[in-house]
Amino acid sequence: MGISFNAQERVFRLETPGSAYLIALIDEAGFLAHAYYGRSIPDDNMQYLTRSLSDQPFREMGRQLDYLNNLPMEYPCRGTGDFREACLAVETDEGYRTANLTYVSHKIYGGKPPLEGLPATCGGAEDCETLELLCEDKALGLHVTLLYTAFTRLDAITRSARIENAGTSGLSLTAALSACLDMEDQGFDLITLHGGWGCERMLCREALRWGEQGVRSTRGISSHQENPFIALAQHTATQDQGQVYAMNFVYSGNFLAQVESSHEGQLRAVMGIAPEEFRWYLSPGGAFQTPEAVLVYSHEGLGAMTRTFHDLYRKHLVRGPWRDRPRPSLVNNWEATYFDFDTEKLLDIARTAAKSGVEMLVLDDGWFGGRKDDHSSLGDWVVNEEKLPGSLKRLADEVNALGMKLGLWMEPEMVSPDSDLYRAHPDYALQIPSRDPILSRWQLVLDFSRKEVRDCVYDQLHKVLSSANIEYVKWDMNRELSDVWSSALPAGRQGELRHRYVLGVYELQERLLRDFPGLLLENCASGGSRFDPGMLYYSPQIWTSDNMDVVERLRIQEGTAMVYPLSTISAHVPACPSHTNGRTTPFETRGQVALPGCFGYELDLTKLTEEELSMIPGQLEDYKKYGPVFHDGDYYRLASYRENGEYDAFMSVTKDKGLAVVNYVQVLSRVPRKPPVLHLRGLDEGRRYRFTETGEERSGAAWMYGGLLLPRMMGDFHGKLFVLEEVRP
Ligand code: GLA
Repeated sequence: MGISFNAQERVFRLETPGSAYLIALIDEAGFLAHAYYGRSIPDDNMQYLTRSLSDQPFREMGRQLDYLNNLPMEYPCRGTGDFREACLAVETDEGYRTANLTYVSHKIYGGKPPLEGLPATCGGAEDCETLELLCEDKALGLHVTLLYTAFTRLDAITRSARIENAGTSGLSLTAALSACLDMEDQGFDLITLHGGWGCERMLCREALRWGEQGVRSTRGISSHQENPFIALAQHTATQDQGQVYAMNFVYSGNFLAQVESSHEGQLRAVMGIAPEEFRWYLSPGGAFQTPEAVLVYSHEGLGAMTRTFHDLYRKHLVRGPWRDRPRPSLVNNWEATYFDFDTEKLLDIARTAAKSGVEMLVLDDGWFGGRKDDHSSLGDWVVNEEKLPGSLKRLADEVNALGMKLGLWMEPEMVSPDSDLYRAHPDYALQIPSRDPILSRWQLVLDFSRKEVRDCVYDQLHKVLSSANIEYVKWDMNRELSDVWSSALPAGRQGELRHRYVLGVYELQERLLRDFPGLLLENCASGGSRFDPGMLYYSPQIWTSDNMDVVERLRIQEGTAMVYPLSTISAHVPACPSHTNGRTTPFETRGQVALPGCFGYELDLTKLTEEELSMIPGQLEDYKKYGPVFHDGDYYRLASYRENGEYDAFMSVTKDKGLAVVNYVQVLSRVPRKPPVLHLRGLDEGRRYRFTETGEERSGAAWMYGGLLLPRMMGDFHGKLFVLEEVRP
């Protein structure tokens, strides 16, 4: 396991438990060719796979362009004859637009360095090894360090690049992607997580076709529409078998994740900051660090890919005191009251919640400035004492006296034109002086590339959070970026703004965590439009979607959980009929669909029936008992309502395989017939498990290969948790 250099073959080997990744130095010039990525193989000399037209050294061929246009590359550059998507593109002050990198030296060491100012996976020497490949373009005076980290216990490799202008004149980067994967097409489908507001991360799987295809965001955030994730899965790949290559971007702004398929049967997959709208000027001595891309390989289907992502993100991306702690159950007042609340109303909800055992009250939008609806006051982070006499201190004290925590909603990146902040500093908002800025939800985006803007917002947040015992913050972000122009950047450098904005968001969240180290931060963006690994570095959980209807949530949570651990997926029991689609579903099922995530209620508890209220303690008990199985265990998808139109099921198994919980929802009932058999997964074949519902005991093998016969349930929208406990001799 780990990373080695075979000097004779001139090959770097990156090895994880089930995969090998080989980089070959080709030609005397030292081009970094991609020789192999896939299932573990013992051989280093895989350079033969990089040959295309001929194996003659390319200088002798007089056909360098053909050669470079076919060579599988590690970090391709634009301008030399590789016409596929480039990772690196430049424009010098003289107007030259060609770059060409060759190997200089390398370093291999244990552990993984942090990426300054950027989120990234972490690991010590016992977890991973890192390879730094220094390359250069002599003509440009450009140094590029390609960073690779191979995890020793997970089939995950991370990549990023650091680009430094070591020359004497300035140049602009016009593309600086994070990773490239050139390989043969093995008959792949492209899997993406597509969507919109209220329908985030819908799993989409289609056969690859010729040309370029993929996903991107130019919205300034990772977006509802596309997640920064792609997977190439063999057509025959299922949950349990087949090869899968996945890429996920640890970043929360514009991105490109693209696959290009050529008629020669070659593929190029790339991931990085979307080159449109990007341009970064490097003066002599200046450097640019790209965000990190995570590569996961599985030869055991999509299920193993999912479990690798879950393990990696739970232990090597999420940080801080909440990483391994059970997350508190909560009640959020948004769909209970919207903007119409006062301290008494909130305390009514809190009292009912406390009686049932809910652990935290989250005060959502509307507690600040003159905010009565969504038309005003973003930017004025001062408590509205008309609604909350005695301020947050009184509310927090009273909520604490009930034995509960208090959490608070904020939207720090935004400003309402109708706000004191905007009236005092209109230039703090992103906008173009000669135009009326485009509004979305009546609001504008603050120029977070500017330190004074961040400081001004942060000072207000700091004051609010210091004024009372606030133990959780929901950091919201409710619009995309438009009119992207900053008064603080010269005309030629406006292309840096979107990335500088994202860096500003990261810097502020880091400051918040530093100053309030016990704080539980939850990111949110108009539902789930910034559910990405970048955000997970700061917040261990993210609001998944504003759509809490159980049927639609099944699809949203299926797509989300394909990459992101259940412990990061915030899920609440909503009011009924659903505020998003009007559907009526049983309270019990709403509880069960939310249970595997970070659990809460988002309705007016004081308006529930006695019967509904009486179910809450049981739901909370299940959350205490089985939440840790879902949050820390291994996830297996058993059936998908998206595919079968009838029912949905997944299960989680503790790492020691002693306890398994199946989350089953019968969405639509059928005429009486034999109910479905669920073939369980992830159990130990040889151990015996008791199905607590019926008391039946069987071997793990029987439950997996014979299956679990589901009890028949009449009616639609019924859910049930099934528990299998190991029978210890
Ligand atoms: C966004 C969030 C919601 C809620 C509202 C408040 O839409 O996704 O959960 O916080 O903002 O305005």
